[in-house]
Amino acid sequence: MPLTPFNIPQAHHLIGGAWVQAADTLPVTDPSDNSPLTTIGRGTAADIDRAVAAAQTARDGAWGAMTALDRGRILTRIGQAVLTHVDTLAQLESRDVGKPLTQARADAVALARYLEFYGGAADKITGETIPYLDGYTVYTLREPHGVTGHIIPWNYPMQIIGRSVGAALAMGNACVLKPAEDACLTALAFAQIATDAGLPDGALNVVTGLGAEAGAALAAHPGIQHMSFTGSVATGEAIQAAAAKNVIPVTLELGGKSPQLVFDDADLDRALPFLVNAGIQNAGQTCSASSRILVQRGIYARVRDRMADAYRRLRTGPALEDFNVGPLISAKQKSIVEGFLDQGADLTIAAQGQIVTDAAGHYVAPTLFDDVPPDHALAQREIFGPVQVLIPFDDEAQAVEIANGTDFGLVASVWSENGARQMRLARALKSGQVFINNYGAGGGVELPFGGVGKSGHGREKGFEALYGFSTLKTVAAYHG
Ligand code: NAI
Ligand code: MG
Repeated sequence: MPLTPFNIPQAHHLIGGAWVQAADTLPVTDPSDNSPLTTIGRGTAADIDRAVAAAQTARDGAWGAMTALDRGRILTRIGQAVLTHVDTLAQLESRDVGKPLTQARADAVALARYLEFYGGAADKITGETIPYLDGYTVYTLREPHGVTGHIIPWNYPMQIIGRSVGAALAMGNACVLKPAEDACLTALAFAQIATDAGLPDGALNVVTGLGAEAGAALAAHPGIQHMSFTGSVATGEAIQAAAAKNVIPVTLELGGKSPQLVFDDADLDRALPFLVNAGIQNAGQTCSASSRILVQRGIYARVRDRMADAYRRLRTGPALEDFNVGPLISAKQKSIVEGFLDQGADLTIAAQGQIVTDAAGHYVAPTLFDDVPPDHALAQREIFGPVQVLIPFDDEAQAVEIANGTDFGLVASVWSENGARQMRLARALKSGQVFINNYGAGGGVELPFGGVGKSGHGREKGFEALYGFSTLKTVAAYHG
């Protein structure tokens, strides 16, 4: 029996509220043991055309006519429905993307939370009145872009659907979602849940398929007015180039090389779990993974030894068995990460975790590298695997220089009990988010998120996302 969520027929797209048979299919395998799971549709440019047309029909019809209050109520209802399906969604995600069950469950809960947040926010976005010439009243209106495209990756499908589709729908856009070919099942399940919860036909359309086919067709489609993308820098460049042809705005979230800065006055007992978890969560396949740990020289050996102890206790195995670390998403991703490990052959390994299965999944042992030069490839390039590098520093100025010394700038954290230093570094670090004495605690649905430099541009999450998913109209009225 192939894995099909909520009795959705295999290899179908959701277009205009109906499940539509795909002409061609792609196989889906379980990263934990490489066994076949099901098939998905291999969407074409014609499918994308139909999905964009269905979204435009929704904008011109029931969805576009709905008040912000009613949109918010529907989103809140979808969020509540997601909560009742958390266990099913978590199982589905674990098998589809190899995510340990506890982490998959957290993603499903976060998806619900995004829907609740944006459901509540939908009717709280307002314009303003602007003092102007004598005899005029001027005000602004926040309006949806229209049809928005959403191309998402395989690492956090549910969370990224929540933050991107959730915010876009709250503002009244109609969405076309192209999930990653390696991670479509929870996107399809979500579309069914949303439809059952009363989302009007065509407000959300899902076309599965390959990046170079369905993805490229969506990115270049003249019928979309905004594109949001999360994924690799190379694909982000292609998406922005395609958007430029249609002169539409893009939101790009392209990952990073996020550092944690540990000073000699840090509370190490508090820091330790964050230092390690931020690197190995989701097997390091996290845009905001903390892959660089910068440690002041006086405590360097202590931090390294304690992290090494934690690494030796990490167990890697099948996702449904819920170890600390699951498999990587695919053979391709495993070979990318192994390529980086080869590039680290000149470095010292401080410690590795254990692989506790013989299953034919895409497993890589978590690896902590010791005393890595800041300009080494492993300290510069996004690895997207369970790999962290330790880098010693002497003082605050050097820490900032190393932290800011990559092409990226997504997340950073500062571990120090010195308040003035905390404030200085919060300003000095080139990063979309800075955490003080924590790292990504609480999930961050409410916190604006996005990068500087090659980490991308635009902000998702929190209230800020609603500005990105809308445009501003200025109305100047002369009345004498
Ligand atoms: P990717 O950026 O190629 O894929 C992400 C999404 O873009 C998928 O839905 C894919 O189908 C789509 N896509 C691919 N090519 C496209 C095109 N020409 N036009 C439109 N859509 C396209 O990333 P991939 O190949 O899955 O992973 C490669 C590397 O990218 C990873 O090793 C990692 O370093 C990075 N990455 C970063 C992510 C992040 O969260 N920032 C997420 C996934 C990957
Ligand atoms: Mg999969």
